Amino acid sequence: MTESFVVDPKSIAERVSALLNPICPNLLVDVKAETESTNADLLQLNYQAHSPYCMLLALKQSHGRGRQGRPWLSDQGSLTFSLRWQFKRSADTLSGLPLAVAVAALNGLKSLGVQDLSIKWPNDLLKGTGKLGGILLELGKPLSDGMTNAVIGIGINLQLPFELSKFDYKVAAIHESASAEYIANIREDTLVAILKTLLPALIKFDAEGFSIFRQEWMGHAAWLGQKVELSTGTQGTLIGVDQDGALLLDTDLCIERFLAGDLSLRTAEPARVFSSRDV
Ligand code: BTN
Repeated sequence: MTESFVVDPKSIAERVSALLNPICPNLLVDVKAETESTNADLLQLNYQAHSPYCMLLALKQSHGRGRQGRPWLSDQGSLTFSLRWQFKRSADTLSGLPLAVAVAALNGLKSLGVQDLSIKWPNDLLKGTGKLGGILLELGKPLSDGMTNAVIGIGINLQLPFELSKFDYKVAAIHESASAEYIANIREDTLVAILKTLLPALIKFDAEGFSIFRQEWMGHAAWLGQKVELSTGTQGTLIGVDQDGALLLDTDLCIERFLAGDLSLRTAEPARVFSSRDV
């Protein structure tokens, strides 16, 4: 259990903003003590309406959203933030974006010394065999000039959730348990480390698309070359992703291609690896 420890959202925003200013002077940094979901906030048109580049950190979310309509548990031991980013590209060219974000987030975590990291397609961050973090990409209404507003939400487990018994699957965290003060410091350091790798990655993605991230994604892919199974029941050997970030499975009959969506991946080996902080 973490004891109570008071953090001041405004001073976090000031510190984070000063550290990120040299990389992205146009980024508006906001911090809330609590909100329902940082993704939901940034998708609202009237939220900081004049800032195409916006980062919102919440110290607590009451209705965090996960992929595939699942909730995302966001207790005091987690880092939960979202970034609103205006891309010069249309929505149909963004399918590889969540994978590029996963590569950038992994590099940010690595720069802090977090070890044993990999990416489960499309964009789950694993530490060992447990889920350390998740990424949720949501798109705003198409803009008239072919540009697209995207909201990229990231949740990272800084310490293991209090109620591990809630989970039937494996969860990982940066620390097993720590004081509230330590977690508050780690939260800020982790946020800045991820944004330092993520912001330049978004600029690169906008200019060149997913293809320049593909090799690096493959270099971090979990279960590459292993038998895997999609939630639809399709099984095959994971051979990688294509230029759009679609999953490529060798099903023995052919190479099949799967786009991100309602698919999830689990090992088809006897020792199944379950993951996620989803409740
Ligand atoms: C997943 O299911 O793997 C994706 C989880 C994404 C959670 C983050 S936490 C910050 C942001 N706000 C949300 O409501 N969800 C994302």
